[in-house]
Amino acid sequence: MHLLAKKYGDVISLQMGLQNMVVIGGYETVKAVVLRDEFLGRYSPPWLKKRTFDKDIGILFGDVPIWKDTRRFAVKNLREFGFGKKQTMESLIQDEISDFIRSLEDRVNTSELVQMKGIFDPPLINSVFSMLCGFRFEQNDPELHRLLHLLHGFFTGVKTAGDILMAYPFLAAITPTYHRQLRLHREMHAYIRKIISDARARKDRITEPRSFVDVFVNTIESSGQDMTFNDENLIAVIYDFFMAGGETTPSILEFLILYLILNPEIQRKLSEEIDSVVGQDRWPSYEDRNNMPYTEAVLSEILRVATVLPLAPRTTTEDTTLNGFNIPKKSIILLNLYDVHMDPAFWGDPEVFRPERFLDEDRNVCNTERLMPFSLGRRSCLGETMARMNLFLFTTKVFQQFSVQVDPSLPKPSTEPLVGITMGAQPFGVIFTKRPRV
Ligand code: HEM
Repeated sequence: MHLLAKKYGDVISLQMGLQNMVVIGGYETVKAVVLRDEFLGRYSPPWLKKRTFDKDIGILFGDVPIWKDTRRFAVKNLREFGFGKKQTMESLIQDEISDFIRSLEDRVNTSELVQMKGIFDPPLINSVFSMLCGFRFEQNDPELHRLLHLLHGFFTGVKTAGDILMAYPFLAAITPTYHRQLRLHREMHAYIRKIISDARARKDRITEPRSFVDVFVNTIESSGQDMTFNDENLIAVIYDFFMAGGETTPSILEFLILYLILNPEIQRKLSEEIDSVVGQDRWPSYEDRNNMPYTEAVLSEILRVATVLPLAPRTTTEDTTLNGFNIPKKSIILLNLYDVHMDPAFWGDPEVFRPERFLDEDRNVCNTERLMPFSLGRRSCLGETMARMNLFLFTTKVFQQFSVQVDPSLPKPSTEPLVGITMGAQPFGVIFTKRPRV
């Protein structure tokens, strides 16, 4: 896609099998599009709609009227349970990091390779889970691992572009992938229904709601299953959060470890900044980021170079034009965020992992809207604050405690991503060493 954008420009019409898609790249054009209401629709192919009972409900893939009400309700009510509230969210995340660090301790200072694939999944899905559902799992709880298994099946099954299910949706029903997806959705629905029925059964749910699910169930009961507040929409929203939050942040952290073992000098500077601002005795706090420009630059650079959601799928809600091209209503739009992050005209050497590009001459952070991993506008990522906090707190705690290296006897791991709906790092192992006290 990125090569096509280089050759044909910001707006490309692509015929993928029977599907016509408009791929939009280039900073100016993507920015113009995310700010225009007629591009607010979300594309979900028919086979994916099985996830939401053949309806355009929920937030991630919700049709505009339902999406608008549901997103507003989620933003308002999730805040009550810590989502987006700095202190509550920070302490929930720190609980997860504590467990994570404990689980690593046994494998540190040995020559044992720690496999990174999936290592951040349990703590990160747990942080989403606790905010939504009001309780958390122990890291080795089989229920948590069942949830992760279902999510992985979904993400590794299909690609956003170039997949037969995307190109020939009507053929979907004869492919094994489709039936595997249906089985996953059925299992996930059963899993989520159990969460909802447990909430419903609790007597104190009305007077003392403990979670977002409680509040949603209470609203369903008071509204009498209306267009937005009904069980199917609640299932869709919970599924959305598991999907959107469970895969992206762990992938970024895996990529971060990968780039830091390949660039030991950058890792050294990161650890040095942590030592000088936080020290080795106290927990890093989210406030510390204001004094940690190098860490912020490293995180910006990893969000750029490893654009985990390279193509954001949208649809047009009415006939429109863009850069002189007519785009009919209900066209499939793919916003090419990867192209924006890899534009050599702006970044110079986009393939290189170089945090310094986000620092000015005085070593202060220089932010740019050209970095848009969470997209922009009204349909941008709802979990951005949580994701940024997770990234900062995990990175600073892990590199406060440990250094990571490649095994010198093995070939260097590749940064070439595995491409599905999101992009992930290939499996690789690292040696964790406890950092000496300075
Ligand atoms: C590094 C981590 C993450 C990245 C890079 C990321 C990126 C994105 C992107 C690019 C979109 C599409 C935006 C668009 O169409 O313009 C999106 C949507 C969304 N994300 Fe994230 N995301 C991350 C983490 C999370 C987390 C932790 C959550 C929730 C706990 C979350 C929840 C959502 C939701 C609900 C949407 C749908 C928004 C809508 O359609 O209104 N994301 N994300």
